[in-house]
Amino acid sequence: MKFIAPSILSSDLSNIYEQIREVEETGCKYLHIDVMDGHFVRNITIGPPYIKSLRKHSDMIFDVHLMIENPEKYIDDFSEAGADIITVHQEASPHLHRLVQKIKDNNKMAGVSLNPSTPVDSLKNIIDDIDLLLIMSVNPGFGGQKFINSMEKKVLEASKMIENSSKNILLEIDGGINKENIHYLNKYDIDIYVSGSAVFKNGNIKENYKYLMDSVNG
Ligand code: DX5
Ligand code: ZN
Repeated sequence: MKFIAPSILSSDLSNIYEQIREVEETGCKYLHIDVMDGHFVRNITIGPPYIKSLRKHSDMIFDVHLMIENPEKYIDDFSEAGADIITVHQEASPHLHRLVQKIKDNNKMAGVSLNPSTPVDSLKNIIDDIDLLLIMSVNPGFGGQKFINSMEKKVLEASKMIENSSKNILLEIDGGINKENIHYLNKYDIDIYVSGSAVFKNGNIKENYKYLMDSVNG
């Protein structure tokens, strides 16, 4: 089964509990939480206290995407706050192996994300150590951007690398996924499709979520 992970970046944060309840009631398994620090990316979002508070209201798997500098400083904080998957950017750490181990030492799933310009190959020496590979299909920082078409080729490279690995690694894609392109993106071996604006903006959240879920599993 493939999954849609709604990204709360595009939700109405003043009404967050109601909004995540809507997707959770519809059977949603993964909730994507974007953390931005104003340095690694220009935008600023939320931190561990907010996630800790959300944790009390949901049993979904918290898929925490760290778009921050010096992520190693904050792994303990995000772990304690209730993250289940912690994804760091390859570009944010010169010591990725140590960082991934730190996430695993906290008993969390370790994800590594690649900006559009970073090659899949850059993970070849660490692929067996990670639990999730996240391909960014927009430049990180904001919701509602346009899908970068050349990332389809990168998805193929990533699935090949995962297939050649001896481990069970989830492949995730994030950015610009909507009700139109989901129909041709569903052919790839992607486990988790992140979607922010297509779930939370325009129309009914439950219907948007169901439509995307049916499109990837149909
Ligand atoms: C972008 C974030 C994404 C974003 C996706 O930096 O990592 O998770 O919320 O939003 P949409 O689906 O609107 O592109
Ligand atoms: Zn994200």
